[in-house]
Amino acid sequence: MIFRILSKKDITDSVILLNQYLSFGLAKKESLERHIGNNSALVCEVDGKVVGFALALQIEKIEEELLNHHDMISKLPFDKELSIFKQIVVDKGYRNKGIADKLVKSIISRLQNRRIFALAWKKPVDYCIERILVNNGFKEIMIKEFFWYEDSLLNNYGCPYCGGACKCPAVLFLK
Ligand SMILES: CC(C)(COP(=O)(O)OP(=O)(O)OC[C@H]1O[C@@H](n2cnc3c(N)ncnc32)[C@H](O)[C@@H]1OP(=O)(O)O)[C@@H](O)C(=O)NCCC(=O)NCCS
Repeated sequence: MIFRILSKKDITDSVILLNQYLSFGLAKKESLERHIGNNSALVCEVDGKVVGFALALQIEKIEEELLNHHDMISKLPFDKELSIFKQIVVDKGYRNKGIADKLVKSIISRLQNRRIFALAWKKPVDYCIERILVNNGFKEIMIKEFFWYEDSLLNNYGCPYCGGACKCPAVLFLK
Protein backbone atom coordinates (compact mmCIF):
# COMPACT_ATOMS: atom_id res chain seq x y z
CA MET A 1 0.00 0.00 0.00
CA ILE A 2 1.57 3.28 -1.13
CA PHE A 3 0.43 6.79 -0.14
CA ARG A 4 1.69 9.52 -2.44
CA ILE A 5 0.92 12.79 -4.19
CA LEU A 6 -1.48 12.66 -7.16
CA SER A 7 0.33 12.28 -10.48
CA LYS A 8 -0.80 12.27 -14.13
CA LYS A 9 -1.10 8.48 -14.31
CA ASP A 10 -3.63 8.49 -11.41
CA ILE A 11 -6.16 10.78 -13.05
CA THR A 12 -8.32 8.20 -14.85
CA ASP A 13 -8.54 5.86 -11.84
CA SER A 14 -9.24 8.75 -9.47
CA VAL A 15 -12.06 10.16 -11.61
CA ILE A 16 -13.67 6.71 -11.81
CA LEU A 17 -13.37 6.30 -8.06
CA LEU A 18 -14.88 9.70 -7.35
CA ASN A 19 -17.75 9.25 -9.76
CA GLN A 20 -18.51 5.76 -8.53
CA TYR A 21 -18.82 6.63 -4.85
CA LEU A 22 -18.95 10.35 -4.26
CA SER A 23 -19.43 12.80 -7.10
CA PHE A 24 -22.25 11.02 -8.95
CA GLY A 25 -20.75 11.62 -12.40
CA LEU A 26 -19.70 15.21 -11.79
CA ALA A 27 -15.95 14.57 -11.34
CA LYS A 28 -14.01 15.55 -14.47
CA LYS A 29 -10.46 14.79 -15.62
CA GLU A 30 -9.76 18.44 -16.39
CA SER A 31 -10.61 19.65 -12.91
CA LEU A 32 -8.61 16.89 -11.23
CA GLU A 33 -5.57 17.54 -13.44
CA ARG A 34 -5.26 20.98 -11.84
CA HIS A 35 -4.21 19.26 -8.62
CA ILE A 36 -1.39 17.09 -10.00
CA GLY A 37 1.66 17.50 -7.78
CA ASN A 38 -0.35 19.35 -5.12
CA ASN A 39 0.98 18.57 -1.66
CA SER A 40 -2.52 17.92 -0.36
CA ALA A 41 -3.91 15.87 -3.27
CA LEU A 42 -3.08 12.30 -2.32
CA VAL A 43 -3.78 8.81 -3.57
CA CYS A 44 -3.44 5.39 -2.03
CA GLU A 45 -2.18 2.80 -4.52
CA VAL A 46 -2.45 -0.97 -4.14
CA ASP A 47 -1.02 -3.30 -6.82
CA GLY A 48 -0.77 -0.44 -9.29
CA LYS A 49 -4.39 0.62 -8.83
CA VAL A 50 -5.66 3.79 -7.15
CA VAL A 51 -7.97 2.68 -4.32
CA GLY A 52 -8.12 5.91 -2.33
CA PHE A 53 -8.10 9.63 -3.10
CA ALA A 54 -8.18 12.70 -0.88
CA LEU A 55 -7.98 16.40 -1.61
CA ALA A 56 -7.61 19.45 0.60
CA LEU A 57 -7.29 22.96 -0.78
CA GLN A 58 -6.45 26.39 0.48
CA ILE A 59 -9.63 28.44 0.65
CA GLU A 60 -10.18 31.09 -1.95
CA LYS A 61 -13.80 32.03 -1.45
CA ILE A 62 -15.26 30.82 1.78
CA GLU A 63 -18.73 32.02 0.73
CA GLU A 64 -18.68 29.56 -2.15
CA GLU A 65 -17.48 26.67 -0.01
CA LEU A 66 -20.22 27.29 2.52
CA LEU A 67 -22.90 28.24 -0.03
CA ASN A 68 -23.35 31.63 1.60
CA HIS A 69 -24.47 30.20 4.94
CA HIS A 70 -23.24 33.18 6.89
CA ASP A 71 -23.91 31.67 10.28
CA MET A 72 -21.40 28.94 9.37
CA ILE A 73 -18.88 31.36 7.86
CA SER A 74 -18.86 33.41 11.05
CA LYS A 75 -17.85 30.31 13.06
CA LEU A 76 -14.57 29.97 11.17
CA PRO A 77 -11.36 31.88 11.91
CA PHE A 78 -10.41 34.59 9.47
CA ASP A 79 -7.18 33.11 8.23
CA LYS A 80 -5.57 33.36 4.81
CA GLU A 81 -4.06 29.93 5.32
CA LEU A 82 -7.36 28.22 6.08
CA SER A 83 -7.85 25.02 4.06
CA ILE A 84 -10.80 22.78 3.39
CA PHE A 85 -11.07 19.02 3.02
CA LYS A 86 -12.80 18.80 -0.34
CA GLN A 87 -13.01 15.11 -1.14
CA ILE A 88 -12.13 11.75 0.29
CA VAL A 89 -13.05 8.40 -1.16
CA VAL A 90 -11.94 4.80 -0.76
CA ASP A 91 -12.86 1.92 -3.07
CA LYS A 92 -15.52 -0.31 -1.50
CA GLY A 93 -13.27 -3.39 -1.56
CA TYR A 94 -10.61 -1.61 0.49
CA ARG A 95 -12.65 0.08 3.22
CA ASN A 96 -12.25 -0.34 6.97
CA LYS A 97 -8.51 -0.87 6.64
CA GLY A 98 -7.57 2.62 7.80
CA ILE A 99 -6.88 4.04 4.32
CA ALA A 100 -9.05 7.16 4.75
CA ASP A 101 -7.55 7.73 8.18
CA LYS A 102 -4.00 7.57 6.74
CA LEU A 103 -4.92 9.93 3.89
CA VAL A 104 -6.33 12.45 6.38
CA LYS A 105 -3.30 12.15 8.68
CA SER A 106 -0.91 12.59 5.77
CA ILE A 107 -2.71 15.69 4.49
CA ILE A 108 -2.76 17.23 7.97
CA SER A 109 0.99 16.77 8.33
CA ARG A 110 1.68 18.06 4.81
CA LEU A 111 -0.36 21.18 5.58
CA GLN A 112 1.92 21.65 8.59
CA ASN A 113 -0.87 22.02 11.07
CA ARG A 114 -2.59 24.86 9.27
CA ARG A 115 -6.26 25.32 10.19
CA ILE A 116 -8.48 23.07 8.14
CA PHE A 117 -12.24 22.74 8.06
CA ALA A 118 -14.43 20.03 6.63
CA LEU A 119 -18.09 19.59 5.89
CA ALA A 120 -19.50 16.17 6.63
CA TRP A 121 -22.66 14.93 5.01
CA LYS A 122 -24.72 13.89 8.01
CA LYS A 123 -27.32 11.54 6.67
CA PRO A 124 -26.14 8.57 4.69
CA VAL A 125 -24.49 5.92 6.76
CA ASP A 126 -21.99 4.93 4.06
CA TYR A 127 -20.81 8.51 3.67
CA CYS A 128 -19.50 9.01 7.13
CA ILE A 129 -16.29 10.88 7.78
CA GLU A 130 -17.26 12.21 11.19
CA ARG A 131 -15.33 9.57 13.10
CA ILE A 132 -12.24 9.98 10.91
CA LEU A 133 -12.31 13.73 11.52
CA VAL A 134 -12.83 13.42 15.27
CA ASN A 135 -10.06 10.78 15.51
CA ASN A 136 -7.76 13.30 13.84
CA GLY A 137 -8.45 16.19 16.17
CA PHE A 138 -11.31 17.96 14.36
CA LYS A 139 -14.04 19.47 16.52
CA GLU A 140 -17.68 19.74 15.53
CA ILE A 141 -18.62 23.42 15.23
CA MET A 142 -22.22 23.33 14.07
CA ILE A 143 -24.87 21.33 12.26
CA LYS A 144 -26.85 23.00 9.52
CA GLU A 145 -30.14 21.49 8.42
CA PHE A 146 -31.05 21.74 4.71
CA PHE A 147 -27.48 22.87 3.92
CA TRP A 148 -27.70 22.11 0.17
CA TYR A 149 -31.42 22.82 -0.24
CA GLU A 150 -31.32 26.23 -1.96
CA ASP A 151 -28.23 25.33 -3.96
CA SER A 152 -29.87 22.15 -5.25
CA LEU A 153 -32.93 24.12 -6.37
CA LEU A 154 -30.80 26.83 -7.97
CA ASN A 155 -28.50 24.43 -9.79
CA ASN A 156 -31.12 21.78 -10.38
CA TYR A 157 -29.43 18.72 -8.92
CA GLY A 158 -31.14 15.97 -7.01
CA CYS A 159 -29.98 14.34 -3.83
CA PRO A 160 -29.57 10.55 -4.19
CA TYR A 161 -30.96 10.18 -0.66
CA CYS A 162 -33.77 12.76 -0.57
CA GLY A 163 -34.82 12.00 -4.12
CA GLY A 164 -35.10 15.70 -5.04
CA ALA A 165 -33.92 19.00 -3.61
CA CYS A 166 -31.46 18.07 -0.89
CA LYS A 167 -32.72 18.27 2.69
CA CYS A 168 -29.69 16.59 4.27
CA PRO A 169 -27.91 18.31 7.14
CA ALA A 170 -24.21 19.16 6.97
CA VAL A 171 -21.82 19.20 9.91
CA LEU A 172 -19.05 21.76 10.05
CA PHE A 173 -15.77 20.57 11.57
CA LEU A 174 -12.65 22.59 12.31
CA LYS A 175 -9.13 21.60 13.26
C1 LIG B 1 -15.94 7.37 4.27
C2 LIG B 1 -14.80 6.55 3.66
C3 LIG B 1 -13.83 7.50 2.95
C4 LIG B 1 -14.06 5.78 4.79
O1 LIG B 1 -12.91 5.12 4.24
P1 LIG B 1 -12.16 3.93 5.01
O2 LIG B 1 -10.80 3.79 4.44
O3 LIG B 1 -13.02 2.73 5.03
O4 LIG B 1 -12.09 4.51 6.51
P2 LIG B 1 -11.06 4.02 7.62
O5 LIG B 1 -10.86 2.54 7.52
O6 LIG B 1 -9.82 4.86 7.57
O7 LIG B 1 -11.86 4.33 8.96
C5 LIG B 1 -11.45 5.34 9.84
C6 LIG B 1 -12.47 5.47 10.98
O8 LIG B 1 -13.76 5.82 10.47
C7 LIG B 1 -14.74 4.85 10.84
N1 LIG B 1 -15.63 4.66 9.69
C8 LIG B 1 -15.27 4.32 8.44
N2 LIG B 1 -16.39 4.22 7.65
C9 LIG B 1 -17.45 4.55 8.45
C10 LIG B 1 -18.87 4.62 8.23
N3 LIG B 1 -19.41 4.37 7.04
N4 LIG B 1 -19.66 4.95 9.28
C11 LIG B 1 -19.12 5.21 10.50
N5 LIG B 1 -17.79 5.16 10.76
C12 LIG B 1 -16.97 4.82 9.75
C13 LIG B 1 -13.93 3.59 11.14
O9 LIG B 1 -14.62 2.77 12.05
C14 LIG B 1 -12.67 4.16 11.74
O10 LIG B 1 -12.87 4.55 13.07
P3 LIG B 1 -12.09 3.82 14.29
O11 LIG B 1 -10.64 3.77 13.88
O12 LIG B 1 -12.34 4.72 15.46
O13 LIG B 1 -12.72 2.48 14.39
C15 LIG B 1 -15.36 5.49 2.66
O14 LIG B 1 -16.37 4.77 3.29
C16 LIG B 1 -15.91 6.11 1.38
O15 LIG B 1 -15.17 6.29 0.42
N6 LIG B 1 -17.24 6.43 1.35
C17 LIG B 1 -17.83 7.03 0.15
C18 LIG B 1 -17.29 8.44 -0.11
C19 LIG B 1 -17.54 9.39 1.07
O16 LIG B 1 -18.51 9.27 1.78
N7 LIG B 1 -16.65 10.38 1.29
C20 LIG B 1 -16.84 11.37 2.35
C21 LIG B 1 -17.94 12.34 1.99
S1 LIG B 1 -18.51 13.34 3.34
